[in-house]
Amino acid sequence: MTKKVLLTGDRPSGQLHLGHYVGSLKNRLALQNSGDYTCYVLIADVQALTDNFATPQKVRESVYEVALDYLAVGLDPALTTIAIQSQIPAIAELTIFYLNLVSLARVERNPTVKAELTTKNFGAGVPCGFVIYPVSQAADITFCKAHVVPVGVDQLPMLEQTREIVRSFNSYYGEVLVEPEAMLAEDEQSRRLPGTDGNDNKMSKSLGNAIYLADSAEVLWEKVRSMYTDPQHLRVEDPGHIEGNTVFTYLDVFDPDKAEVARLKEHYQRGGLGDIKVKKYLFEVLEAELAPIRQRREEYMQDLGYVRQVLEEGTRKANEVAAETLNAVKTAMHINYFES
Ligand code: TRP
Repeated sequence: MTKKVLLTGDRPSGQLHLGHYVGSLKNRLALQNSGDYTCYVLIADVQALTDNFATPQKVRESVYEVALDYLAVGLDPALTTIAIQSQIPAIAELTIFYLNLVSLARVERNPTVKAELTTKNFGAGVPCGFVIYPVSQAADITFCKAHVVPVGVDQLPMLEQTREIVRSFNSYYGEVLVEPEAMLAEDEQSRRLPGTDGNDNKMSKSLGNAIYLADSAEVLWEKVRSMYTDPQHLRVEDPGHIEGNTVFTYLDVFDPDKAEVARLKEHYQRGGLGDIKVKKYLFEVLEAELAPIRQRREEYMQDLGYVRQVLEEGTRKANEVAAETLNAVKTAMHINYFES
């Protein structure tokens, strides 16, 4: 039986945080370890450059930060091919071909791109590369003919766009590409983990409400200590609300001891349970999950030569597969002039 193909990616624009972890990384790990998939993970530096073109050094450093995060959470280079987008020229070529299959109006309708346009400050104007990054993402997903793409909800429009491109390509040129499916985290709260400020839109670096996988225990405690709870819960004896209370949302997501979470919720709602107590408990829960990740991350940091080797080898493997797909694409498009 040939295995199904899984691909996903991240923009290297900083370190990965808990939102990435529960929204997508955990799914990738489970699928990687299931043995049922051929797995690819792409560090999408070309995409990161669409809005960080003025600071390429930051993108370059983030490639390593993200790679360290991957290895620290348990992505295994023997099971998952980790590759750098810019070093796979076939992706750029596929992007150019796909651009003919997408109307200008269609790229402008993408809700995630629209939302990003309002938060990013493109002083001198919106770069073309930014508006069309969903098309380049279709090339990311199709170079290895991925079936499954574990992502956060904000990426659903990219998957829809990719599926449209695949259908269009296959109908003009013949069945070459594979229509991918998104895979979301199981529960609603993990799909869109709120930030520490209670912003339930999402945790993000630009909003300054993120807990990073690489955060030290001290920084973690500082972030948990100042987390958004119930603004009406002023005195310990008062009854508190758990709805929209980020500390309890995180406990739901991270604490395996559901009975204890239920007990804490009941006590909090009844009154007599202080915020600081719950926060200390949450800190312990998070620390239990993050301490081993942090530890492994530090070990890999001591061995950047190994990390580089992983990236180089992964990129080499990805290039092999990408070249095959590109060949099939060019043949289907009748632009294989020099093939015998
Ligand atoms: N756009 C994704 C993000 O912002 C990153 C990404 C790039 C990606 N290429 C991809 C995700 C391919 C899934 C598949 O998080």
